[in-house]
Amino acid sequence: MKRKTPEGASFAQEAEGAMLFAPSADRNLAPIAKELAEIAPGTGDALEIASGTGQHIVAHAAAHPQVHWHPSEIDEDRIASVNAYIAQSGLTNVSRAIELDATASGWATEPAYDLILLSNLLHLISDQEAQTILTEAALALRSGGKFMVYGPFMRGGVLTSEGDHSFHTSLQAQDPDIGYKDDEWVQKIAAAVGLTVDRVTDMPANNLAFTFLKP
Ligand SMILES: C[S@@+](CC[C@H](N)C(=O)[O-])C[C@H]1O[C@@H](n2cnc3c(N)ncnc32)[C@H](O)[C@@H]1O
Repeated sequence: MKRKTPEGASFAQEAEGAMLFAPSADRNLAPIAKELAEIAPGTGDALEIASGTGQHIVAHAAAHPQVHWHPSEIDEDRIASVNAYIAQSGLTNVSRAIELDATASGWATEPAYDLILLSNLLHLISDQEAQTILTEAALALRSGGKFMVYGPFMRGGVLTSEGDHSFHTSLQAQDPDIGYKDDEWVQKIAAAVGLTVDRVTDMPANNLAFTFLKP
């Protein structure tokens, strides 16, 4: 089921041609790229779930030229935006974006990736949908592959800043099924689907980056 992304939680403005520009994606690119540099494989295939505008994947592909990057998105305007960023970049190690509802069971048909990247989606979907993403990601990873999940989280069931409290509350006011996931819950679900915790990093603006490993 396609869930409507909550108002204001995924803002992007029109840029050149089909390209969209999300100020938040611009802000969090540098910390995500820094974390990625610590965990990315030297070669192989990387899937990005919920690529958004495409601002991130072209930067990651430029920084990791021996890795082949596969963007994906649920939204058709964003797929067009990702593809426009790729075309403008001239990079040859990025495929065109595919349409993917990451919350729909069954998209992982075989272990095809050495890295999967997901930023800023888990708080916009339900627990059940988040669980499906973790399950499918575990199936889609090759042995030794890593799944990096970035975003805002509760810590031990607690919203730890004023900003997080008001964002989570505004999300739940729009849809009671969605909102921040708990850091311990995410790790428990990851373990249940066969992923081990490789690394958890405190990120700017009270975000977290989890790196899970498929043994
Ligand atoms: C807050 S934006 C994050 C975009 C990008 N990952 C970033 O960090 O800048 C959330 C994105 O998730 C996409 N999305 C929402 N539901 C999705 C789903 N079920 N499967 C894949 N993408 C989804 C939206 O279209 C939107 O581009």
